[in-house]
Amino acid sequence: MKNSVIVFWSATGNTEAIANELEDALISEGSTVKKLFVDDATLEDLENADIIALGCPAMGAEILEDGSMEPFVESLSNFNFSNKKVALFGSYDWGDGQWMKDWEERMESYGATLVSEGLIVHLHPEDEDIQKCKEMAHKLAN
Ligand SMILES: Cc1cc2nc3c(=O)[nH]c(=O)nc-3n(C[C@H](O)[C@H](O)[C@H](O)COP(=O)(O)O)c2cc1C
Repeated sequence: MKNSVIVFWSATGNTEAIANELEDALISEGSTVKKLFVDDATLEDLENADIIALGCPAMGAEILEDGSMEPFVESLSNFNFSNKKVALFGSYDWGDGQWMKDWEERMESYGATLVSEGLIVHLHPEDEDIQKCKEMAHKLAN
């Protein structure tokens, strides 16, 4: 059985709602899931996982939330991502998704292989976003 960890930051619940959908979808794929708000997550949680999903909305001006998520992501710069499947997700509102493109590039520069493009959701996930969560979970678990 594969073990998943979902680490996210969310202020108004939209990214958390995506995390919840991914959790359900990963469980349906037969994975265990540990879902953690970023303040409660440690590198050990990631080391113990086969599947890593990281979530953060677009904040600032197309950047990660800078109080918790930004330092957590920075702490992954020397993380050993070998044999881990990794995916990114997050909610946004008025932007064009640039924060996610930058985040993808950054994770790849840290040695992570992403299973797909980051899942970006306009505000709260709707049916088509939930379908994308299922597709992402399938790629992560297989
Ligand atoms: C301070 C602040 C900065 C934001 N900056 C951006 C941005 O640069 N681009 C964008 O598309 N949305 C931006 N947003 C909108 C959020 O990404 C959006 O409301 C998102 O759904 C919040 O996710 P959450 O509910 O998980 O906290 C910003 C929101 C806030 C409060």
